[in-house]
Amino acid sequence: MLKLCGLQFLLVIHSAMCLNLGDLHVTGPLKDMNFSIPEGGGVRILYQFTSEPPAVTFRLSGDKDGIIDIAPEKGILYLNGSLDWETKPVHWLQVESLDVNGNVVKGPYAVTIYVEDINDNPPEFDQITYAGVVRQNSRPGKPFMYVHATDRDNPATPHAQLTYSILHHFPNPYKEMLFQIDNVTGAISPSRTGSYYLDPQKQDTFTLVVSVKDMAGMSTNAFTSSADVIIHVKESLWKAPATIRIQENSTQVHPVNISQVQSNEPNVTYDIFEKEKLPRLPFSISQDGVIYVTKPLDREEKDTYTFFVVAKDNQGELTDKPLQIHVIVEDINDNPPVCKQALTVIEVQENEVGGSNIGTLFATDMDEENTLNSRLRFKIKSQVPEVPTSNLFYVQQDTGVLQLTGRSLSKFYASNYSLEVLVTDGAFETICDVEVHVIDINDQIPIFEKSDYHNVTIAESVPVGTVILEIQAHDGDEPDTGSSLIIYQVHEGDPNNTFIIDTDAKTNRGFMKINKALDFETKPVYNLVINATNPEPLVPGVQYNSSSLTLFKVFLTNEDEPPVFLKPVYQEEVSEDVPVNTLVMTVEAYDPEGDSVRYSLEGDVKKWLRINSITGQVYTASRLDREETEMYTIDVVATELNNAAQKSRTSLILHLQDVNDNLPYLVKDNPAFFCYPVRGGERTLIQATDADEQWFYSKFTFSLPDDVNTRNNWEISKVNATHAYLSPKHPNFEEKIYNVPIILNDNGKPALENKVHLKVNICKCSSEKSCFIEVERQHSLPTAGQAIGILIAVLLIIGAILGGAFFHIKYKQKNEKSHHKDATDSAELNKLT
Ligand SMILES: *[C@@H]1O[C@H](CO)[C@@H](O)[C@H](O)[C@H]1NC(C)=O
Ligand SMILES: *[C@@H]1O[C@H](CO)[C@@H](O)[C@H](O)[C@H]1NC(C)=O
Ligand SMILES: *[C@@H]1O[C@H](CO)[C@@H](O)[C@H](O)[C@H]1NC(C)=O
Ligand SMILES: *[C@@H]1O[C@H](CO)[C@@H](O)[C@H](O)[C@H]1NC(C)=O
Ligand SMILES: *[C@@H]1O[C@H](CO)[C@@H](O)[C@H](O)[C@H]1NC(C)=O
Ligand SMILES: *[C@@H]1O[C@H](CO)[C@@H](O)[C@H](O)[C@H]1NC(C)=O
Ligand SMILES: *[C@@H]1O[C@H](CO)[C@@H](O)[C@H](O)[C@H]1NC(C)=O
Ligand SMILES: *[C@@H]1O[C@H](CO)[C@@H](O)[C@H](O)[C@H]1NC(C)=O
Ligand SMILES: *[C@@H]1O[C@H](CO)[C@@H](O)[C@H](O)[C@H]1NC(C)=O
Ligand SMILES: *[C@@H]1O[C@H](CO)[C@@H](O)[C@H](O)[C@H]1NC(C)=O
Ligand SMILES: *[C@@H]1O[C@H](CO)[C@@H](O)[C@H](O)[C@H]1NC(C)=O
Ligand SMILES: *[C@@H]1O[C@H](CO)[C@@H](O)[C@H](O)[C@H]1NC(C)=O
Repeated sequence: MLKLCGLQFLLVIHSAMCLNLGDLHVTGPLKDMNFSIPEGGGVRILYQFTSEPPAVTFRLSGDKDGIIDIAPEKGILYLNGSLDWETKPVHWLQVESLDVNGNVVKGPYAVTIYVEDINDNPPEFDQITYAGVVRQNSRPGKPFMYVHATDRDNPATPHAQLTYSILHHFPNPYKEMLFQIDNVTGAISPSRTGSYYLDPQKQDTFTLVVSVKDMAGMSTNAFTSSADVIIHVKESLWKAPATIRIQENSTQVHPVNISQVQSNEPNVTYDIFEKEKLPRLPFSISQDGVIYVTKPLDREEKDTYTFFVVAKDNQGELTDKPLQIHVIVEDINDNPPVCKQALTVIEVQENEVGGSNIGTLFATDMDEENTLNSRLRFKIKSQVPEVPTSNLFYVQQDTGVLQLTGRSLSKFYASNYSLEVLVTDGAFETICDVEVHVIDINDQIPIFEKSDYHNVTIAESVPVGTVILEIQAHDGDEPDTGSSLIIYQVHEGDPNNTFIIDTDAKTNRGFMKINKALDFETKPVYNLVINATNPEPLVPGVQYNSSSLTLFKVFLTNEDEPPVFLKPVYQEEVSEDVPVNTLVMTVEAYDPEGDSVRYSLEGDVKKWLRINSITGQVYTASRLDREETEMYTIDVVATELNNAAQKSRTSLILHLQDVNDNLPYLVKDNPAFFCYPVRGGERTLIQATDADEQWFYSKFTFSLPDDVNTRNNWEISKVNATHAYLSPKHPNFEEKIYNVPIILNDNGKPALENKVHLKVNICKCSSEKSCFIEVERQHSLPTAGQAIGILIAVLLIIGAILGGAFFHIKYKQKNEKSHHKDATDSAELNKLT
């Protein structure tokens, strides 16, 4: 190294450089070589090639760029200046050794110098100032513009990894910035706050100072530049149109453009969805946001529509809030007036004076109320016959009220006029028919046949609708007119309309009926005054007098009604442990006729209750038990003291509340056993239960009695509120059945404890972990139970082979041969064993 530095021709090289060389493998024979050199750094030696005779000099060619060279005699490869990655990241060179004659001895060899980038270039924005436009209510995060910067450093290194941020935000009226920038793409979008608050009315221009950093923004040594972004806020295009008015029954060619909406974003699809559920919404929207009505509307069918218009992006996401579109269907006069009745009949007495109001013609129009479209006007078009003159009648133009024009009518000329009344709504005309009947003057009053119909006596139970009286009055006026028709009414004595009187229009006979249920106890006697009147008014000077009144009395007889309970059903909750003779409830009934009532119980199959027959007090007669029945329902009967046949009954229900009165016990589904010999670690699951209600046995405890023997042999461990494990404590158990005492406590109120004995079999086990030997072992193997099992199996196999006939014969011979059969069977069994 020192030798190298001493070389004359490299005096220019700084001694510090020499020190650097110490780290490199600096000398070596001629060969292909790669160097990786950071850019910048200035003059330095890279390598020394050693020469092998006959070579005396070296030659370097390629991308030397005036910086890279080799000392021809010493073979030192050096940089006479700084490399620059941005200018040339790789230098491709060739080196050769030459002899004294300048002929190539070795080579050319490739020498490649890879320039390492260092972060020596700051990022630069494409523009000094950017300008963008954002619409009010744009979606948060949806970019409306981009900024972009470049960095000349190696893009494969962090030196050119740029990150964007917003440095300043002018003005910045809210806590959160209104805009945000994507730190990687430079996309600028409204923030959530911005989407909400941006409003060109308040602030239409913002200036952002955005900055870009290289080194992925991670290094404090990163370079930074900045640019201004001017943002103009514009009104949202996405606005609901004002209420749309469409005239009904339009004759235009449909569909008809009724409005247009536009999203703030390009390339959206528009859609309509209904707010109300209609069979078919008569609106549609095109892909340029034009809303159409698809068919003529009918206001008389539906006068307003409300629906939503939405815009979706190509992902199907809503780009904006749905717009509510409101459509009002405007009325046109497309409905004619309609007569309320096909024929309106009016009766007019001969004596009615000119100007008298004789009746009204009613007509309607379906068009919108309170508009000219439904305004009706009346006019008499014709009068038949026109005797003694035409124009006998007049109709009020705007009300349809009919009047006599000048004179009274007289049957002498005509008893019957037909009028055609023209009803118009401005566009349509309708003719309504009116018939005016001239009737005799009402100068006769109805006169009752009898001034007193005396009395009737009926039972209070007589049903509604029953006719209890027929009455008759006569009227001398013209028959079949309102002057002679008689209306009967109860004038006095019946404030609640208990009675009603119908008239037979032909005969004027009156039928008095019961209109409401009678009740002797409420009102036993009705003193009725009945009047008779005509629907037509009487002529002046004539008045109803007492001949138009009659009297009638109604006497009710009391029915002996059964007693009535005060409640439809009697229920009570009772604890199941109440002592005998506890009062559980009192029932009460009364007799409408005031008789005394006696009580009794029926259906008390458990004999749990008794009743005081006079007071209705119900007592327990024996111990109750919820576990027998939770809801005890019986009948309670009330009987009249003086007429035992008059009785009524109702239900009496006792709801028994649980008391902890049942001992806990073990659920035995599998007999407990442990395989002999006991190895340790075995356990068996035991479960406790009792008959009381759930919550009492939700917390059983299991324990062993306090005797040395049990405690030394067994152990109980709790699993949960209903289960525990029992395990043998040591391996020294005999092969036999142990009776393990276990104490169960249900922890109820009061807590009940039960000492039970669990049979635990210590037995030889089959491979399936079950006792191989039956508990009651008798003599040799197999046990009796197993032998029977084998026998049945053998018989089944034989049966299957020989078929039904065999069984048939066997069945016939069974009785006499049973001994023989047993013998055969046991022989068979012996063969098997
Ligand atoms: C130099 O680098 C290139 C490209 O990485 C490689 O193909 C070549 O084998 C290297 N040469 C030597 C001598 O390491
Ligand atoms: C290095 O470059 C300078 C000028 O660029 C030149 O004068 C000098 O001779 C060069 N030295 C070597 C050893 O090439
Ligand atoms: C760029 O933004 C992402 C989230 O958008 C964030 O996780 C990341 O840290 C940011 N990078 C820098 C350098 O701020
Ligand atoms: C549809 O009608 C609206 C006004 O209602 C109008 O602004 C729009 O230009 C029309 N669109 C088309 C495509 O005719
Ligand atoms: C809209 O969509 C069309 C084709 O789907 C595409 O060519 C166009 O660039 C899109 N415009 C915008 C602004 O995304
Ligand atoms: C539309 O108007 C015509 C008369 O103008 C009428 O005859 C028709 O009934 C109307 N249709 C509806 C649906 O109202
Ligand atoms: C009234 O006259 C019309 C025809 O003019 C007739 O049809 C109708 O029956 C008459 N009515 C009475 C009550 O006489
Ligand atoms: C009931 O009417 C009869 C005649 O029909 C009469 O003899 C009797 O006295 C009347 N009774 C009463 C209580 O008015
Ligand atoms: C007839 O009796 C009814 C019912 O009380 C009463 O409204 C009506 O005014 C009475 N008629 C006469 C003419 O007294
Ligand atoms: C009439 O009705 C009222 C209220 O329902 C009742 O209190 C009264 O007893 C009734 N009177 C008669 C006579 O039925
Ligand atoms: C009631 O008036 C009629 C005539 O309208 C008469 O005949 C009758 O005698 C009158 N009755 C009484 C009780 O005055
Ligand atoms: C208690 O444990 C047993 C056995 O693990 C289980 O079958 C039972 O469901 C458990 N009971 C409750 C209430 O968790």
